[in-house]
Amino acid sequence: MKLSFEHISKLYGDTAALQQIDLTLGSGVYGLLGPNGAGKTTLMRIMTDLLAPSTGRVLLDGQDIAVMGAAFRKKLGYLPQDFGVYPNFTAEQFLLYIARLKGLSKFEAKRQTDDLLHMVGLEDKKQKKLKGFSGGQRQRVGIAQALLGDPEILVLDERQLGLTRKNGSGSAGSSVIFPSKSSFCCRRILYRTSKQSQTKSFCSGKALSSECKSLLRCWSS
Ligand SMILES: Nc1ncnc2c1ncn2[C@@H]1O[C@H](COP(=O)(O)OP(=O)(O)OP(=O)(O)O)[C@@H](O)[C@H]1O
Ligand SMILES: [Mg+2]
Repeated sequence: MKLSFEHISKLYGDTAALQQIDLTLGSGVYGLLGPNGAGKTTLMRIMTDLLAPSTGRVLLDGQDIAVMGAAFRKKLGYLPQDFGVYPNFTAEQFLLYIARLKGLSKFEAKRQTDDLLHMVGLEDKKQKKLKGFSGGQRQRVGIAQALLGDPEILVLDERQLGLTRKNGSGSAGSSVIFPSKSSFCCRRILYRTSKQSQTKSFCSGKALSSECKSLLRCWSS
């Protein structure tokens, strides 16, 4: 699987959030690192087909994701940076609801919800309303919802997974992308990303604006 960015730019009025990104990601795990405002969320919203770029396009195995539309989104799991939950839903109700929106059958929705609640360590809280969850517990619900439907590509706009690092311009934000072949692979990756020692530099200064820092490849599937 190949996700290619061709001449991606994004302007918000006079602000150039992204300038001429040309990049290809193969199967593997990538961390997108850069300071606040570097353009990480913008790039992720473009690669999830939520935001149209000002120039350029994103291709999945040679096909424009904007043209693929629903067929592309079926392959995708996404945790937005500002992940909102319905406060009066229980964790279980919320995941079942998202699973049904993703088109899973009732049986499969229940099976995957149980499985994922176990995976993120919230099995014993599944009947609790989300308004009573801590920030970290909500994030875990967010990761679980992103994994529903066994996505081939997982995009987590998330800075708590262990990739945050310091650099010359101060504290760097981090976001993680996981193109992968199966949720089994995704799950292994989720556990592994907390081990910073397994990361290695992949390329630098390639992506994002002039402030951009680097793209890390931390694990290959
Ligand atoms: N909706 C918007 N309207 C106008 N400017 C925006 C908008 N969204 C982002 N920007 C600007 O685009 C630039 C990139 O923002 P973006 O949110 O992509 O950065 P980021 O790398 O995700 O930052 P952070 O680490 O704080 O999450 C910033 O200068 C920001 O002010
Ligand atoms: Mg962001």
